[in-house]
Order: sequence, then structure tokens, then C-alpha cells
Amino acid sequence: MCGILGYTGNHQASEILLSGLAKLEYRGYDSAGIAVLENGNIKVVKNKGRLQALEAKIQGEDVTGTCGIGHTRWATHGVPSDTNAHPLWSDDMSVVAVHNGIVENYREIKNTLSGYGYRFYSQTDTEAAVKLIDYYYKQENDPLKALTRAIREIEGSYCFVLLFHDRPGEVWGARKDLPLIAGQGEDEAFLASDVSAILQYTKQVYYLDNMEIVQLKGGLVRFFDTEGYAKPKELSEVTWDAQSAEKGGFDHFMMKEIHEQARAVKDTFGAVYHSGKIDLTEINLTDEAISKLSQIYIIACGSAYHVAAVAQYVIEDLSGIPVRIELASEFRYRNMPLDENALAVIISQSGETADSLAAMRKAHEHGIKTLGIINVVGSTIAREADSVFYTMAGPEISVATTKAYSAQLIACYVIAIQLAKVRGKLDDARYEALITEIQKLPEKIDEILDEAGVLKRIAARFVNARNAFYLGRNIDYAVAMEGSLKMKEISYLHSEAIAAGEMKHGPISLIEKGMLVAGVMTQKNLYQKIASNMLEAKSRGGYIFIVSPRGCDVLKDEADFVFHIPETDEHFTASLAVIPLQLMGYYVAVARKLDVDKPRNLAKSVTVE
Ligand code: G6P
Repeated sequence: MCGILGYTGNHQASEILLSGLAKLEYRGYDSAGIAVLENGNIKVVKNKGRLQALEAKIQGEDVTGTCGIGHTRWATHGVPSDTNAHPLWSDDMSVVAVHNGIVENYREIKNTLSGYGYRFYSQTDTEAAVKLIDYYYKQENDPLKALTRAIREIEGSYCFVLLFHDRPGEVWGARKDLPLIAGQGEDEAFLASDVSAILQYTKQVYYLDNMEIVQLKGGLVRFFDTEGYAKPKELSEVTWDAQSAEKGGFDHFMMKEIHEQARAVKDTFGAVYHSGKIDLTEINLTDEAISKLSQIYIIACGSAYHVAAVAQYVIEDLSGIPVRIELASEFRYRNMPLDENALAVIISQSGETADSLAAMRKAHEHGIKTLGIINVVGSTIAREADSVFYTMAGPEISVATTKAYSAQLIACYVIAIQLAKVRGKLDDARYEALITEIQKLPEKIDEILDEAGVLKRIAARFVNARNAFYLGRNIDYAVAMEGSLKMKEISYLHSEAIAAGEMKHGPISLIEKGMLVAGVMTQKNLYQKIASNMLEAKSRGGYIFIVSPRGCDVLKDEADFVFHIPETDEHFTASLAVIPLQLMGYYVAVARKLDVDKPRNLAKSVTVE
């Protein structure tokens, strides 16, 4: 997500902030800015675009001062623009802040503050939070009290770093569910979202716990809980070098992003779940629009297409609305009857994939309304789609997608539930039960990640393998497609996903002794069906690897290895079953000493045909 910095000490803050932000560039961003506090005034310089542009802009401004904050923004609420770039300020510039994360109840906060005369100039959720803090600061005249009161009201995940105009030499911060660290230098102190931003200045850091507030003042760092009580904390020494710091201590961005999936899922759901209900009015899926829908076309490429394949089962099963899934590269060149009363859903992480864009334009030419499920705010598909459901995965650096895939699944589940509710297919109890299951997914994903070590050992067996099969039926077939793609794209191990019932029509002749045959088995009514297919593979020498929910003991004696995932509603099993498959692909690629994050011949964003 966004990069955040704070500094107070004896050096010019703007220089420290710019070089710290440069260390965060690798994460991806669309705008940048700094604010410096001097003599009761806070000067802000920010712009859309690269840090170099910000640097040039700063040349022409007076940003003298030894206390400041900085930010690189990855847009979530509001397109990338000078206005939406951080820092954001209160109307009289008395509170200025940078923010990482999502203020889920920003609309409610805005409404309340509008009643007190506040006006809003940006499209961001952050501005609502800054003005709420300002509102309490004006009452309390104490940053700590203002922050404790404000964060009691702010819902979502966040990390704030702030300046108060009449608090010279002070920088404040607060975090919930997103990282924030404090660095201790000699007569200087830092705040950063990411240790790589400050490693060049100090290796002495404090890690903030969740729901903590921090104050930098006079080169010292102090911590408080959300009641305002001071908390002691121990200094730690960072042992990472700059490169591993960028990857959050993981060896590759892919592994870092695999570990960010719980957060991506939580944030994507949180963005459309308000006051106990799914609210899709912002993406034009009003009750009226839903009741008029005849069918849905879901169009995408690569892993996004695999999400579509899951969505087809989930939407049709829950809502009864027919869903057709299409590879964008095929859809764009096919002459087929299209229904004007359908909705075309385009799924794309980058929002720039050439085939997906062309397919969307074709839908428009046929008078069909389009909805983009997009990760990059302001991307071409996001701009041209009739409405957009933004996933909250944050910037994804590894070419092989993991967290964006997981976030896209959540967007599809939410749409499926809403369609079903409006079409009268879900009673209140079932609606709430499904929501509860989605809310439990993040912790279940993390539970699976705790077991990663065992997959590493299994993956080691296949370091010299030449072929693999991934089998499944229905949702499990869709997951098998993604698992198989993860394996082949980063480990170069030839792998095919097969609808298990098709094995007998040809693929079975390819099974050799020791070949990895992975079976995804999460749908109770199909356990026995897929079990038979797996046994056929076993009797021809295949190594049988099963992913199934705890409590399923089908094939427990016959399989070579069973990886159990936590139980969840059967509509949502893709979110869990995919995790061990991502890890298998990753570990085989690592064992083969390949460039996991940049596999040969592949690109993150495919803007050509
Ligand atoms: C590339 C990426 C895949 C991605 C596909 C579609 O092939 O490597 O990870 O699934 O493009 O990209 P999109 O940005 O449209 O989701």
C-alpha cells in the first residue's frame, strides 16, 4: 500500500523525507507529497506522478524546517491527482496528515462533520479522518486526546502520521492493522510504514503494536494506548539489509504478497460492508438494477479469468442468475448474440490488459453496461467502465498474482450475495451466515500460512519433475486452474488443470510414475467422484496430493499427502484451497533457484495483444 514517513531532528526534514520516500518507490505509487512544520506553519508540497516531479516542485518552494511527514500514495478512494495526493489538511491547516489504509466509515464521518460546517475538497477517505482529528483537537488542544477520541470512531485499517501546527518538533502517529515503526537516531526520530525507508539513518527501531499511538518529540519516542496511557516499549535492532527490508523480510515479493492476502481480503470486504450490510450502491448495483438483470458475462484474462470461473459457480448457485465466463482474447473476436440486459463484469488487477479493455469496449458497443473489478485506481478499464468495484489488494509487484486474485474472489462473493439477496434467494439468517463466513476467511488464510513448512518439504520432491496435473470439479476445477498456472508460470514445470471427469478422455494416458497429481476436493457432493479420479491416477503411479477441508477423510489412506484447510462455506473454499497451491508453486520455483518474482517471458501488465 502507500508509503509513510515522519521525521523530527536537526536536519532539514524535506531532504530526509525525499530520500526515505525514494526507498519506498519499489512498492509502486501514483503520487507523492511532503509537509514540513516551521514556526507554527505547515507547508505542504505534493503532486500526482513520480518523486522526481515532487523534488523539482520542492526546489521552487520554501520548505525549511526540521520536522515533517511524507507519503507515496497508491490510490484507493479517489483517482490519482494533485488534490487527492497526501498530505491532506484540515481547513485552517492546523492538522496535516498522511495515511495508509482505508477509513471504512468515511461517509458517515463526512456527514457528521458537514453538519459542524466542515467542507471537503478531495475524494479521499483520509480527509474525513484528518478533519475528525482536527475537530477533537480544537476541543481538547491536546494531540493525544484528539487522537484517542478520533480513533475510537474511525473504522477500518489505518496508519496515520500527523503534524499539529502549534506543536513544534512533534510528529504523531497511530496504527491499526497496518504496520508502523518508529526509528531512534541520535537526537532525531523517525516514523515509517516500512523499515526500508529509514534503514539508511538508523537500525534502532520500535515496532508499534496494534492500536497504539506514538509521539516523536525532541529526538525521543513515546508510546500510548488508546486510552492515552503511556506504554513502555523495547528498542530492537534491525538485522535485515536494505534488499530484504523491501520484501518485509521475505525472500521474494511473491511470498510477501502471499502473506498480505488476509489483509487484502479483509480490506476488500470492509470497503463495501457498512453498518452490518453489503452496500453496492456506489458501484451502481442498486436493487432496481439487480432486479432487471437478465444474465452476467464475466470477462478476463489469466488468473482473473480463474476468478471468473469460481464466480460463475458461486453467483449461479446463490442467485440463480445465469453467468457466462469468457476469456477476453476470445470474446473480443467472436460474433455471438449478446443481450443488452446483461451486465458485463471485467476482472483485471492492472486495469490495463489490452484484451480485457477491448472486450469491455465491445460490450459497450452492444449497449451492455459494464462493471470493472479492478485493483489499480484510475487505470484505463476503471475509467471507461460504467462502474468500478475496487479491490483493496494494494500494489502487487510479483508477476504471479496472489493477493489480487484473493481480493477479486471477495468482490465476486460480495456481488453474488447481493444478487441473491435482492432476488429473494437468501433469507436474513443465511445472508448473515455467509457474511460471517467471509469475515472469518482472513484468519483461516493465516492459519494455512502457518503450515507452509510442510509444503516446502513436499515441493522439494518435485524439483526435477517434468509434468504435473491439477484436478477438480466445479469450484475445485477453477481452483485447480489457478494452482496449475501458479506452478507453471514461476517454476516452469509443465502443468495442466483438468476437469476431473475429463481425465478418462485422454490426459490419463500421460500419467507416469511419481508424477504430481494434485486434487482439490472441497465440495462434499463431489468427494467420491474426484476420489475415483485420483485413485485412477494413483493406480498408474501418480503422487496423489489432496487439498481438502478438515474433517474430510476421503482418501486419507490412499493419498500420498493430504493438506487440510480450515472448513468454510462451500461457496468460499477457493479462497482457502488456493493458498497451499500458491505455496507449492512458490517452493518448487525456489528449489529450482528461479527468479520467482520475474518469471521469464511474462509481464505483470499485458498492454499488448
Ligand atoms: C498477466 C499477469 C497475470 C494476470 C493477467 C491478467 O498475465 O501475469 O497475473 O492474471 O496478466 O492481468 P490483469 O491485470 O488484467 O488482471
